[in-house]
Formats: sequence, structure tokens, C-alpha cells
Amino acid sequence: MRTTNWYDNPLYYDIIFDQDTGVEADFLETVARRHGRRRGAWRILEPACGSGRLLREFSRRGHTVHGFDANPSMLAYAAGRQDPGKPRARLWRDRMEAFTVPRGRGYDLAHCLVSTFKYLLTEEQAAAHLQQVASVLVPGGLYVIGLHLTDYTCPAIQHERWVGRRGRTGGLQHPHLACPSAAPAGGLTHSPAHHTPRNGTHRGNTLALPHL
Ligand SMILES: C[S@@+](CC[C@H](N)C(=O)[O-])C[C@H]1O[C@@H](n2cnc3c(N)ncnc32)[C@H](O)[C@@H]1O
Repeated sequence: MRTTNWYDNPLYYDIIFDQDTGVEADFLETVARRHGRRRGAWRILEPACGSGRLLREFSRRGHTVHGFDANPSMLAYAAGRQDPGKPRARLWRDRMEAFTVPRGRGYDLAHCLVSTFKYLLTEEQAAAHLQQVASVLVPGGLYVIGLHLTDYTCPAIQHERWVGRRGRTGGLQHPHLACPSAAPAGGLTHSPAHHTPRNGTHRGNTLALPHL
């Protein structure tokens, strides 16, 4: 078994999470139209942009998109998957805890989905991140955060399973979610997956299946 970092393999991440990109972009556009001030095309910032799936989608929809991520593999993948003929996303390597943005007008919308906010590990980091995002938004700009929630009234450990396929390549993610009383000491919210596929790779809560 080869061990590998989930985020060092952007293709597997993208196979699973790109399945909902259109729906998520629709949701963010609806929120921005309903609660934001600006009409028409927006300037959008995506902290921890990952594989660039939402950057590409919003570029297709006519918005100006900027994104940064801590992982160079994710950034390279995001740069490579942009549409020819569409405005390119501006990408750079940075961290959510302390980031800078290119000079220019502020952002109308920032978003950070897929529970990525959890990578801010202390209250100080979370506060610094929120303050920095607020400082780069235009007045009335919005920051939308997507969080996966654990039901703390449920005593049992819960399982989620996401599977995706693109051509002959497939990916599977299998996180286990537990309320603090059900989790081992330390308040575990994700545990390692149970199943390791033949010829697959395994890291933390994620399995990647090269050829399903
Ligand atoms: C679950 S993915 C989300 C990607 C993207 N926002 C999306 O919606 O598909 C989490 C991303 O956060 C990045 N990341 C983790 N910790 C980070 C940090 N402290 N600063 C910047 N990026 C970070 C990872 O490299 C990964 O690309």
C-alpha cells in the first residue's frame, strides 16, 4: 500500500467534489444576488481554492476570480484546468491564517466551502482570517463559509461515503463523524477509513482508487 496525501492528488479530490460544483455556484450566486449590493459580474476571492473547480465555474459565468491555496499541487492543477478563451483565474500560494491579495478593487464575494474553515486550528487563526477577509471585501461584500455539521445529540459514530469516477479513474472518501462524547479522547471528528482497496492508496480519511 502506498501512502499519499489527499491534497497532493488533486485529480482524486476533483473527481469527488466537482460533482456538485454547478449546484454550489448556483447557491453562491443566489446568496450574492439576494444579500450583496453589486449587480452583474463580481470580483470573487476563494481562500484555499483547492483544485480550482469553483474558480473555473465562476470564470465561465463571467466573474473575475482570484484564489490561493497552501498546496502547490492543488494550485498547479487549478492553473491547468482553466478554460482556454475564458479570463484566467489569478492564483497564488498563500495561507488562510495570514494572506495578502493583489492590489486592486476589493472583492464583492469571498467563499470557502467544504468545511475548509476547519484548517484554521485556533481561535486566533480564525479571527485573523476573518479580519483579513473583511479587509479585502468591498463595503457590503459577502463572505460565505460552508461547514459540515456533526449532530452532537447522536451518540453513534456516523459514516459518510463519497464516490466519484472520471473515465477509468475513481475516488472514494470515507470520513467518520462523531460527537465529542462518542469520540476517543481528544474529540475526534474524523477517523481513518476502514477499507483499503487493492492497488489503491490510503491517507487519513481518504482512499484514492486509481482504476475502479
Ligand atoms: C476541502 S479542500 C477545498 C477546496 C475548494 N475550496 C473547494 O471548494 O473545492 C481544502 C483545501 O484547503 C487547502 N488548505 C488547507 N489548509 C490551508 C491553509 N492553512 N491555508 C490555505 N490553504 C489550506 C488544501 O490544500 C485544500 O486545497
